[in-house]
Amino acid sequence: MIFSMIKNILKTKEIADIAVPLDDGLPDFITKDDVVDVSAEQLFYMRVKPEDVNVMPTTKCNLKCEYCLSSGKHAKKEDLIDAADDFVENIANLLKNEHPRPHMILSGGEITFMKDWPGIVKNLLANKVHVMMITNLAKIMDDAEIETLSSLGQILISIDTPDIELAKKFRSKTQLENIVYNIIRIRSYCAMKDIAIPPLSFHCTLGSQTIRSLPELVSMAHACGVPHVHVNEVTMHNDINFEYKPVTFYGERTRQETISLFNDAFSMANRLGVRISVVDGLIDAVQNPINENLTAGKTRLCFDPWKMLLFGVDGAIHTCCNGYPAVSNLYEVSSLKEIFFGSANTKCKTELLTGELSKECIRCTRRKIVDIDDFKIQLEDYLSYPG
Ligand SMILES: C[S@@+](CC[C@H](N)C(=O)[O-])C[C@H]1O[C@@H](n2cnc3c(N)ncnc32)[C@H](O)[C@@H]1O
Ligand code: SF4
Ligand code: SF4
Repeated sequence: MIFSMIKNILKTKEIADIAVPLDDGLPDFITKDDVVDVSAEQLFYMRVKPEDVNVMPTTKCNLKCEYCLSSGKHAKKEDLIDAADDFVENIANLLKNEHPRPHMILSGGEITFMKDWPGIVKNLLANKVHVMMITNLAKIMDDAEIETLSSLGQILISIDTPDIELAKKFRSKTQLENIVYNIIRIRSYCAMKDIAIPPLSFHCTLGSQTIRSLPELVSMAHACGVPHVHVNEVTMHNDINFEYKPVTFYGERTRQETISLFNDAFSMANRLGVRISVVDGLIDAVQNPINENLTAGKTRLCFDPWKMLLFGVDGAIHTCCNGYPAVSNLYEVSSLKEIFFGSANTKCKTELLTGELSKECIRCTRRKIVDIDDFKIQLEDYLSYPG
């Protein structure tokens, strides 16, 4: 089956045109049998390197964030559901044989709001899946929950600002004091048991109203013993008028002032020894107004359809972290090959490789704009090196 899928893909004229010879060999999980009469060279740009696996076992949540489409203030009640009982197990089976590093980043909804969520984590760990979690950490965790959190491979803690009033305004019902208390308890549990503290990071969904507090958020991470702050940006959704606006809604703040605030956050991080990372396209979007440079010969520097998997609560599979439509469904595929080499995902790759972008990719600020030639060189690098 995979053989005919690849042949179909290669019938696409654009792909044949853009493929360049490379003696680098076959995609990681394509065997020679799969490509009997197709040259490995032609497959070069189509090969993939699966990395991030995001899994949403629920869309239910204890908070009502202003800007969260799946579970927040604007979510429809009937869309707040738990996934099927075999959801997580099915994903684990898909990853088992083909993913180079079987892992899941459990997300949601709010996983810690699920009944017996520690049981889900224990099962995965017993099946040798590396488990990470993105959580609001907003309720006080009991002892079993603290123990489970301490056994994770990584905890990404969603917090956008250290300002209590602002935090409550956009993440209604959040409790910053609970977040801090939970962090201290995880650290203290690990110290008592003499085990390593799971890597902790603050995951900040930055917006126009919270950017002023970014330097202080970095300092708060330091004070909490959290060594890393990752900064993302709020994504707008077409038909909903979120009150929380992207950073590039300047209001009275100028572009220059915005750049200065980022610099202050970087200096703070540098001085305090906190690692700070900013989603690729954000600084670029501040420096270059959106669409200004999306002309012929340009594309977004995005490897998502070559590397990422996001499993929605209903089984929808996305290979994009920012709203590109689903490319397959968990209940219709039996291998990663079918997802990554299916026609919908191939279309997404082709759009990025040709610069003929979808409306989602055009408005996306998570990935910066580059020349197509540059994109190919960087993709080549990405696909050529392991890890
Ligand atoms: C959907 S939540 C699920 C996990 C958990 N409930 C939490 O808040 O961490 C995962 C992350 O998505 C972010 N997020 C939600 N809506 C977003 C949006 N419109 N744009 C960008 N990030 C968003 C949240 O801030 C959070 O960091
Ligand atoms: S806590 Fe997470 S899942 Fe819940 S509404 Fe907020 S962003 Fe969405
Ligand atoms: S919307 Fe497009 S450019 Fe943005 S992350 Fe998704 S695939 Fe990449």
